[in-house]
Amino acid sequence: MSNRMLQRYGDRDRMNHWFIALMFVLAGLSGLAFFHPAFYFLTNLFGGGSWARILHPFMGLLVALSFARLGSQLWRDNVITDADREWKQHAGDLLRGNKAGMPPVGKYNYGQKMVFWVTLASLGVLVVTGFVFWRPWFEPLFAIPLARAAVLLHSVAAVALIAAIIIHVYAAIWVKGSVRAMTRGTVTDAWARANHPLWHKDMTKGG
Ligand code: HEM
Repeated sequence: MSNRMLQRYGDRDRMNHWFIALMFVLAGLSGLAFFHPAFYFLTNLFGGGSWARILHPFMGLLVALSFARLGSQLWRDNVITDADREWKQHAGDLLRGNKAGMPPVGKYNYGQKMVFWVTLASLGVLVVTGFVFWRPWFEPLFAIPLARAAVLLHSVAAVALIAAIIIHVYAAIWVKGSVRAMTRGTVTDAWARANHPLWHKDMTKGG
């Protein structure tokens, strides 16, 4: 077995990824503070209620803008193919620990791709709806029922995004050897062979 390392992400992509992760946590915590009074204490992290309210939309926009950069580079690798649909049929086997029986995957598997698209869609909904009730700047431009509907949709999209990211982080830790892809940029030959054999073949030209 080879000891070689394969490059999976460059420096800029990794820095962007961790910036997104940090901003996501901050935007998420300040958003939760407005979601239910039980979470209002979280505003203390941002200097109180007013500051949390001022900062939340800007932190959310930073998540969306930086994700737009990452997404524009990665969307092609995340397009769902027939091979992914077949992989999906066997997802239960993977959860039972039978990795060897899975159809071979490329750079990302079906689960990773779904997390990607759910993240993209929910961020899109969060940005659009967020503008509709962003007071005092934009809300006066919209009818009140529309702003109310936007608040509801904003919360639904936030729940979807948080669920997707919990799955993303869990999977990253669960598949041993993945986190270093986003910390050091490289993965081991064995990791690539076991988890993304078609990508491994591509990277090593079959060698
Ligand atoms: C503590 C939090 C996080 C951890 C530990 C983490 C970990 C990782 C790891 C290890 C990878 C590489 C996976 C691979 O190449 O197989 C990755 C990729 C990625 N992460 Fe994260 N991540 C976190 C937060 C986030 C957040 C908040 C977002 C977006 C809002 C995000 C979006 C992505 C995207 C788009 C990729 C590329 C995978 C793809 O395109 O399907 N991550 N992350």
